Amino acid sequence: MPEHIDDKVRLVNAGTPHNEAPKGAFAKTVLMPGDPLRSKFIAENYLQDAKLVNNIRGVQGYTGTYKGILVSVMASGMGMPSMGIYSHELFHYYDVDNIIRVGTAGAISPKLKLRDLVFGMGSCTNSNYAQQYGLSGILAPVADFTLLETAVAVARKMGIEPVIGTLFSSDTFYNHAGDTMDWGKMGVLATEMESAALYCNAAEAGKRALAICTISDSLVTGEELPPIDRQNTFTQMIEVALETALSMWEIDRETGI
Ligand code: HPA
Repeated sequence: MPEHIDDKVRLVNAGTPHNEAPKGAFAKTVLMPGDPLRSKFIAENYLQDAKLVNNIRGVQGYTGTYKGILVSVMASGMGMPSMGIYSHELFHYYDVDNIIRVGTAGAISPKLKLRDLVFGMGSCTNSNYAQQYGLSGILAPVADFTLLETAVAVARKMGIEPVIGTLFSSDTFYNHAGDTMDWGKMGVLATEMESAALYCNAAEAGKRALAICTISDSLVTGEELPPIDRQNTFTQMIEVALETALSMWEIDRETGI
């Protein structure tokens, strides 16, 4: 069972309004599922000596080791405002270098099947998130290439062929306009609700981010993964993300970053 960080440590190092972890409590790579219970599941099943470093609002964050290297996992919550807060704080206050979102997405492309693993090379959005940067055009939120190519290599080594392309990060799950499928005309693969904010924050911070999503439902066919299958496919995605964290640690050690 992961244990809570020492209260004395927390008192000495006040965190942010949303994160009570002391500085230095997070590893260089953080896996971010949307769901706090998934964060707990990853910590309990994949990390050694995992310690709960944040539990404000139940947004559980843990740091432990995976094959001897430090790795953290913390929930992002749902939607871009929530992902925006937590990833900003991880990059800026906790000196995190790599964030790998591990989530689910709904298929827009008919080429996708339930359980497929999609890597978001870029993220289209209907959100105003990037307006805060005051640019006189449209920012393209993209994944970090090193993280992406590392994750692709890791997946292939594990016998998994990921589908790589663009995601649509939506501000709404229940879309009154009913126009989500239009993004398919532009080759967009699947819809979720967090990757665009994550990629914007990584760009602003000069850090790395990648969204890996399991297809949990299809807007094309109306199919949905049964809960037990969600668990199994989630396991595969976590293994890809953890092995990517390990490879990134090796790459950064060799390049001295
Ligand atoms: N829409 C938005 N987010 C999602 C979906 C969806 O259909 N499926 C999984 N995450």
